[in-house]
Amino acid sequence: MLPFSFLLLAASLIPKTRSAECTVAHSATEDDSPSILKAFTDCQVDSVITFSKANYSASTPVSLTGLKNVTVHLNGNLLLPQNVSAVQHSINTTLNQPSTYATPWFYIQGEDVSIIGSDDPEWGAFHGFGEQWWNVGNRILRPQLATFNVTNGLLRKLKVIKPIAWGWNLPGKNLRVEDHFVDAAPHNGTRDTTVSFPFNTDGLNLSGQNITVDGYYGHNGDDCISVINGAKDIVAQNGFCGFSSHGLSIGSLGKGGAVQTVQNVLFKNWTMDGAVYGARFKSWTGGQGFADNVTWEDITLVGVSTGIFITQNYYDQDKGARPTNTNNTSTKVSNFKFKNFKGSLATNWTDGTCISNPCWNFVQSIDNTKAIIFDLFPGTALNVSVENIDVQPHDLSSNSTTVICDSSALAPGEQATLGFLCKTGPLVATEIKASSGAGKLAQSGIEAMLGLILALVLGSLL
Ligand SMILES: *[C@@H]1O[C@H](CO)[C@@H](O)[C@H](O)[C@H]1NC(C)=O
Ligand SMILES: *[C@@H]1O[C@H](CO)[C@@H](O)[C@H](O)[C@H]1NC(C)=O
Ligand SMILES: *[C@@H]1O[C@H](CO)[C@@H](O)[C@H](O)[C@H]1NC(C)=O
Ligand SMILES: *[C@@H]1O[C@H](CO)[C@@H](O)[C@H](O)[C@H]1NC(C)=O
Ligand SMILES: *[C@@H]1O[C@H](CO)[C@@H](O)[C@H](O)[C@H]1NC(C)=O
Ligand SMILES: *[C@@H]1O[C@H](CO)[C@@H](O)[C@H](O)[C@H]1NC(C)=O
Ligand SMILES: *[C@@H]1O[C@H](CO)[C@@H](O)[C@H](O)[C@H]1NC(C)=O
Ligand SMILES: *[C@@H]1O[C@H](CO)[C@@H](O)[C@H](O)[C@H]1NC(C)=O
Ligand SMILES: *[C@@H]1O[C@H](CO)[C@@H](O)[C@H](O)[C@H]1NC(C)=O
Ligand SMILES: *[C@@H]1O[C@H](CO)[C@@H](O)[C@H](O)[C@H]1NC(C)=O
Ligand SMILES: *[C@@H]1O[C@H](CO)[C@@H](O)[C@H](O)[C@H]1NC(C)=O
Ligand SMILES: *[C@@H]1O[C@H](CO)[C@@H](O)[C@H](O)[C@H]1NC(C)=O
Repeated sequence: MLPFSFLLLAASLIPKTRSAECTVAHSATEDDSPSILKAFTDCQVDSVITFSKANYSASTPVSLTGLKNVTVHLNGNLLLPQNVSAVQHSINTTLNQPSTYATPWFYIQGEDVSIIGSDDPEWGAFHGFGEQWWNVGNRILRPQLATFNVTNGLLRKLKVIKPIAWGWNLPGKNLRVEDHFVDAAPHNGTRDTTVSFPFNTDGLNLSGQNITVDGYYGHNGDDCISVINGAKDIVAQNGFCGFSSHGLSIGSLGKGGAVQTVQNVLFKNWTMDGAVYGARFKSWTGGQGFADNVTWEDITLVGVSTGIFITQNYYDQDKGARPTNTNNTSTKVSNFKFKNFKGSLATNWTDGTCISNPCWNFVQSIDNTKAIIFDLFPGTALNVSVENIDVQPHDLSSNSTTVICDSSALAPGEQATLGFLCKTGPLVATEIKASSGAGKLAQSGIEAMLGLILALVLGSLL
């Protein structure tokens, strides 16, 4: 039998032997992906992994999984191949787990994982060489840059430079993203031209739970922040979105009648410069599920096409007429707040993504830019309010600010909580009356049943 003191000594040694430090090897000529994989295997648990200040070629997709308590210092950069067909071939054959929109080049999975970039703007970057894809409008077999499927994770000071399309996908839990940077603006085009337009260059796709994004600076051609099915308890604050962002967006939800949900989202303190939308909610016609408790607050618009946008009736306009909503339903919206918007509207209601006729974002009776467009499905949007909206078309006075809204789609009593007159024409602010309490569309079945019983009892008493 071993002496007790020896056992103690052995126990105290275990964490030491498990914790490790790895430096990722770099070759000037070869694919660095095998070295990256090796470092993340050798240092999978209780470790620190350091990339040197160098341009690593990540020539093949990698899947870094089973990580536990790992801190990564990305002091260098990671470069995707510049050969388009090589990227397409790799993404077509990789076993990396696909995301909602595409398959990621980097798939990262585990618990307690931090990836720390650099204070130096040149380092801590992911280079996608996307412009060569944008220049020729190549949208075949494009990768998502990365998936961070982590519980308890941190992404700090990472840069995404000329991504091919979608940036970071976050399906994980308990995540922080700090000081994220995205450069997906072409050298070669403006927001209003199809030339080199950076299609689908979403900044962050969030489908996880308890995620805070604090600090974001980006130029892109699609959503800056896209909050999608499954997302819950999200805060995204202190950001700037330039070039031709498609907004701080919820959705799309409910495609093909799907039951999808998003709950508890706060967007606060953003500047949207040149965006097609400032704040946006989009669900497909005939969708199911709900989006509940979403706030957009303290938003500055600079030349934005539509400040505030909700559609519960989206469809592919370029593929023919609106499909019949046979289920006569929509993804429900409840407790949405748009508060403190200021700034200017653009001269153009769309951008270079407008490559079909009608345009994907055409709205009946759109003639110029709008402060607000509400395209609601009858009776399925409850307790939506708009407060303190001070936006005006470029070079015009605020009395020419207009909205599109169809009051026949409002739920009974909803005009009282709305904060503006739901009528296509000038923006007319109205006093917001307290919610009737009907705003809880997303409540559980039991609560709903109790409410019903209470209502019946009260009804029989009166
Ligand atoms: C996490 O890993 C570090 C080594 O990188 C180690 O010092 C620390 O004790 C580990 N934390 C836990 C909770 O195991
Ligand atoms: C690293 O790669 C980027 C992208 O190609 C390039 O702009 C930069 O000059 C490279 N840096 C070094 C030190 O080679
Ligand atoms: C690009 O990749 C393709 C497919 O992997 C390959 O056939 C071709 O030789 C590569 N081109 C260059 C210039 O390396
Ligand atoms: C992708 O893979 C499928 C079969 O798995 C194949 O039919 C197709 O040609 C591939 N496309 C490219 C561009 O490699
Ligand atoms: C600009 O875009 C056009 C095609 O849209 C392309 O032919 C040209 O190479 C691009 N120029 C640069 C500098 O990327
Ligand atoms: C994330 O990881 C979990 C397992 O930890 C897995 O079940 C899930 O499918 C993964 N999600 C994505 C989008 O990769
Ligand atoms: C949410 O995530 C943060 C890390 O970003 C963590 O500190 C916090 O405990 C999490 N909250 C819950 C309720 O899990
Ligand atoms: C708002 O966000 C910007 C970054 O876009 C930041 O510089 C500023 O301090 C934030 N303001 C507040 C009140 O937090
Ligand atoms: C109607 O709802 C069902 C599920 O309840 C779904 O399978 C079907 O696709 C929906 N139809 C349409 C046209 O959305
Ligand atoms: C609404 O969502 C915000 C942001 O996640 C959260 O702070 C707040 O507690 C939520 N409110 C309710 C009533 O759940
Ligand atoms: C508005 O954008 C569309 C699509 O990008 C473009 O065709 C049109 O010329 C633009 N109009 C103005 C006035 O810039
Ligand atoms: C809008 O305001 C301007 C002055 O700011 C005024 O001259 C104009 O008549 C107003 N137009 C309408 C339609 O009220």
